[in-house]
Amino acid sequence: MYNIDVTIKGNPVKYKLPNPAFYEALGYDGMQDLMYRFYDEIYDSSISHFFPQDEDEFEVIKKKNSLFFIQICGGPKVYEGDAQGMNINEYMIRLHDDFSINKKARFEWLGCMENALRETDIDQDLKDDFWDYLEKFSKLTVNKFDDGSTYYAAYEAGDIVP
Ligand code: HEM
Repeated sequence: MYNIDVTIKGNPVKYKLPNPAFYEALGYDGMQDLMYRFYDEIYDSSISHFFPQDEDEFEVIKKKNSLFFIQICGGPKVYEGDAQGMNINEYMIRLHDDFSINKKARFEWLGCMENALRETDIDQDLKDDFWDYLEKFSKLTVNKFDDGSTYYAAYEAGDIVP
């Protein structure tokens, strides 16, 4: 079981983008395969209702999600066209504002990713590095807190650790 820290409302979140070696180890197809397996987990999870129930619409999300992760992991820049000129990290935070994401939903999302990663045959160090990015960046997608309040994390370029 990987470590997951809780999100403290308003606390800055420093994160490092994934090591490009993760993408190099998996390749374009391997990355896509990982993300499709991740969405198979989502489909069977307690957060499946967040996602489109229509198969074709869900397929579009799976494709876009794969392209985002290919780019953020150092692969070709196949996603940024979707970001409407925004920095893609900022765009990714703002895109999640449309969904009411609480602690439980984030833990479930990360759990799905953990299951998908367990079945991925690459060096553990690379998986750990990718996990570190997911665990931290996902804090910025949480916008609904246990005290009932809603708070949208700001994007700060300085939060990205070089
Ligand atoms: C590391 C954290 C996360 C990353 C990098 C991430 C990334 C993405 C990407 C790339 C997409 C597709 C974007 C597109 O349509 O262009 C997406 C959509 C989505 N994500 Fe996340 N996500 C994260 C965390 C979460 C969490 C914790 C939840 C909790 C429920 C979540 C829920 C959703 C939903 C509901 C959608 C959209 C489905 C729709 O458009 O109908 N995400 N995410």
